[in-house]
Amino acid sequence: MTATLLETRSVSKNFGALRAASDVTFKLEEGARHALIGPNGAGKTTFINLLTGVLLPTSGAVYLKGQDITTMEQAARVKRGIARTFQINRLFRGLSVLENVYISVAERVGAAPQMLKPAGARRDVIDEAMHLLETLKIANDAHHTIAGLPYGRQRLVELAIALGLKPEVLLLDEPAAGVPSAESHIILDAIDALPKTIGVLIIDHDMDLVFRFAKKITVLVRGAIFAEGTPKEIGANPDVRAVYLGQATTHG
Ligand SMILES: Nc1ncnc2c1ncn2[C@@H]1O[C@H](COP(=O)(O)OP(=O)(O)OP(=O)(O)O)[C@@H](O)[C@H]1O
Ligand SMILES: [Mg+2]
Repeated sequence: MTATLLETRSVSKNFGALRAASDVTFKLEEGARHALIGPNGAGKTTFINLLTGVLLPTSGAVYLKGQDITTMEQAARVKRGIARTFQINRLFRGLSVLENVYISVAERVGAAPQMLKPAGARRDVIDEAMHLLETLKIANDAHHTIAGLPYGRQRLVELAIALGLKPEVLLLDEPAAGVPSAESHIILDAIDALPKTIGVLIIDHDMDLVFRFAKKITVLVRGAIFAEGTPKEIGANPDVRAVYLGQATTHG
């Protein structure tokens, strides 16, 4: 028996005349390894923005473990266990890798965010942040500033920040974009190492990654769910192949 973590019921989002989400009814289950795929502009990022509260739906509702969170603020959703990464990263570029992750862990445990304040840094928070960096194989970059880091490693820092929140739901918008393909397995390994109860939703255009990762795939086309199923079902679906898989690439 699995429980539903995050759910939408008939969620729609209009941008003027454009319907970026169209009647989307979706469930992310406890322990899910779920991928959301679809052509550019299909509405994938919009959907994550609706789940995280960046956007309010035009109609429909969003539930977290059965509770209606449709109008809940972003920060409150994070506190309740929804973490995400962005398609384009939003790191503190002037701070070090460790400081960025420190802020995230500190936020969760209620410590002061500044690591550099003389009496401020908490050893347990530093240790936890360092452990995350080790898991993602970026510990050697701990004291480098974000601005000087190759983009692929910046993506890993973003993932470390999301994991620092110890989320129940992890939403990853193209986490491997800009990551050299030789290193994308680090992301998958890190996700594999997460507690099995965490529900993970990943958006990616890299079908190798998607099919290695996902136990369930939802295909979004023009804002609406076009198909949903196991990787085997989706891979064999001629309509999906026609509309998307035939043209999917490994672009970011
Ligand atoms: N804030 C906004 N205002 C107006 N239109 C928007 C806004 N955000 C997204 N859109 C439009 O909504 C549609 C869906 O965009 P979205 O970014 O969700 O697609 P996507 O599936 O994530 O695409 P990609 O694979 O390129 O990242 C696009 O036509 C986009 O131009
Ligand atoms: Mg997107």
